Amino acid sequence: MNIIKKSMMRCSMEALVLIGHGSRLPYSKEVINKIAEKIRKRNIYPIVEVGMMEFNEPTIPQAIKKVIEKGAKKIIIVPVFLAHGNHTKRDIPKILGIYNGEEEDSHHHEHHHHHHHEEPLEIPEDVEIVYREPIGADDRLVDIIIDRALGN
Ligand code: NI
Repeated sequence: MNIIKKSMMRCSMEALVLIGHGSRLPYSKEVINKIAEKIRKRNIYPIVEVGMMEFNEPTIPQAIKKVIEKGAKKIIIVPVFLAHGNHTKRDIPKILGIYNGEEEDSHHHEHHHHHHHEEPLEIPEDVEIVYREPIGADDRLVDIIIDRALGN
């Protein structure tokens, strides 16, 4: 059992950053913090932090800076969103400095954004950023949704 657990543990310089959407109400941040705590307890990633896309802190740059300060050399970023959208396809990559899409008209996406005016994120040369996919139509979600439908 110990051996299995050890092989699950990622390298000590690896950090996981979950990205939540954020809200003016507390629930978005509460939920993602609870998820992060459950992931920490699995002892897979030595560093697990949360960054919020909008409305709440820590912001994404704050979360990235924090894991870099903790010594992360590889930062795995998972957007905890069901599907891709403007945040996952444009805003988050822009914040991370990995956006390579076209600039588009601003009228598409000014509907509800509270912009955090902060200094651009600086990623040291020796730190690797790995930006992963959102949750998607995973079979494991089906069980949760059926539970909720049943009132559980
Ligand atoms: Ni939004």
